[in-house]
Amino acid sequence: MRVLDIKNLGVQFKTQDGLVYAVNGMNFSLDKGQTLGIVGESGSGKSQSVLAMMGLLAKNGQASGEVLYKGNNLLTMPAKELNAIRGNRVAMIFQDPMTSLNPYLTVERQMTEVLQFHKGMDRKAARARSIQMLDAVKIPEAARRIGMYPHEFSGGMRQRVMIAMALLCEPEVLIADEPTTALDVTVQAQILTLLRELQRDFGTAIVMITHDLGVVAGLCDQVMVLYGGRVMEQGNAQHIFHHASHPYTLGLLRAIPRMDRDDASLLAIPGAPPNMAKLPKGCPFSERCQFADDTCAQTMPLLSLLPGSTNTLRACHKSVAIVQEGFHKEHAHV
Ligand SMILES: Nc1ncnc2c1ncn2[C@@H]1O[C@H](COP(=O)(O)OP(=O)(O)O)[C@@H](O)[C@H]1O
Ligand code: SF4
Ligand SMILES: [Mg+2]
Repeated sequence: MRVLDIKNLGVQFKTQDGLVYAVNGMNFSLDKGQTLGIVGESGSGKSQSVLAMMGLLAKNGQASGEVLYKGNNLLTMPAKELNAIRGNRVAMIFQDPMTSLNPYLTVERQMTEVLQFHKGMDRKAARARSIQMLDAVKIPEAARRIGMYPHEFSGGMRQRVMIAMALLCEPEVLIADEPTTALDVTVQAQILTLLRELQRDFGTAIVMITHDLGVVAGLCDQVMVLYGGRVMEQGNAQHIFHHASHPYTLGLLRAIPRMDRDDASLLAIPGAPPNMAKLPKGCPFSERCQFADDTCAQTMPLLSLLPGSTNTLRACHKSVAIVQEGFHKEHAHV
């Protein structure tokens, strides 16, 4: 069952330097229980694309295109209808739990209010359900801890509280914006396992934002690689993980830390993410790409279906063979 259809999503910001096109021409669809990973370096447009979907852009931002939740466009929906869906059918978790938790209210108060507002539950039933959900995200002694304030929880536990809160109404879509980035590796792994279990139990569709392609391989069905506000490569996660064919994706994959080497910093893509207000005329990646030529610098490559593929999209002027061969030859020594 189709739950989310994103059509030609764009985000523009008005700034002193003129219009900044933070997200351009984004398309994807998500069925019940599926996971899409959105990957890219800092500033590539990951957060703004999902904030746009939720109607949470900053004042100077404007979304275009369509965000269809079960066929209804969230971008044009009256505020009252949108509020009934947001936090209920479509929920979001953030990198920093304090973005969505109120520091001055106990966890109990915050959780029960969500259920009272969206589900019309009374206080007692809402409390019982909240404790159940804290149990589900494996918070020990949930019945006691529910009376605590957010700051009384450790970082990892606070992240679990936020996940529990987002899942209270059993949303059909969960949007997770780098939910584990601030946590240590062990807790990260626990949270990812938890999301996988919750998905299995509730059939939640997940949009997972991460700068870590390793997370995508373990959790996602589809992946979308963003650079400079544009999709560079998109398709089946396993396929792209094993047969990446865009220079930027290959660069990201090479930079994943591995157990058998400790030189990740040496393997990072040279150069810095682009200034969004001063993007090159052609391919946004052209200033850092080993394959770039004049055509790349002058003409924007179109995102198009790979020849012979049914679902891999790629935006690059060079052929798959040239890029894969050239990349592996250059980096053969590692
Ligand atoms: N309020 C704003 N005004 C102008 N530009 C913005 C604003 N918020 C974000 N941007 C631009 O959008 C780009 C993408 O941001 P974002 O989606 O948050 O990146 P990330 O991929 O790290 O989540 C940024 O590089 C920045 O140029
Ligand atoms: S279009 Fe050119 S600059 Fe852009 S990724 Fe492909 S080869 Fe590199
Ligand atoms: Mg972000």
